[in-house]
Amino acid sequence: MQFEGLQEKTLVIIKPDAIQRGLVGKITDRFEQKGLKLVGMKMMRLEEAVLREHYSHIADKPFYPGVQRFMMSSPVIVQVWEGLEVVNAIRLITGITKARTAEAGSIRGDYAMSVACNVIHASDSVESAKAEVSRFFREEELHGYEKSDYLHVYTEDERV
Ligand code: PPS
Repeated sequence: MQFEGLQEKTLVIIKPDAIQRGLVGKITDRFEQKGLKLVGMKMMRLEEAVLREHYSHIADKPFYPGVQRFMMSSPVIVQVWEGLEVVNAIRLITGITKARTAEAGSIRGDYAMSVACNVIHASDSVESAKAEVSRFFREEELHGYEKSDYLHVYTEDERV
């Protein structure tokens, strides 16, 4: 998988609270409107083992069992978005973890109040994006295609 330039990729998980509250379309719309390219998407139930790996940096925290129960409480939608510096672009649109203090206009700032029920997860660096995309997607589940609006989303020199 390529993770450079226009082919930089990032993982988004639309969490159970967003599925229950019917926010999938609104969240996806934010990324589409920004000009990002959707290259993978599926609905799945997260298992204990994959969650423990995904959240290994918080697995020993007292709040982790609650995070795990929440993330397994309904299916999630996993997406891979592509674009120039997309990891950073999506983190900015996502807003900070504690949603009730997230900036208005960000997804968490507009749709959430909690630190765990914060509607989406987004990879926090290019390195974690690489690990997270391959944790949730097989190579053949990612789709390369020409996006016609790139002509207007990026300048010629940004497209090389
Ligand atoms: S982040 O967004 O990854 O930088 O956030 P981080 O602070 O590293 O937290 C990682 C995930 O842990 C969840 N979290 C918590 N849940 C419950 N209670 C508390 N106090 C808490 N602190 C952090 C948070 O929802 C983060 O999930 P993701 O999926 O990464 O957004």
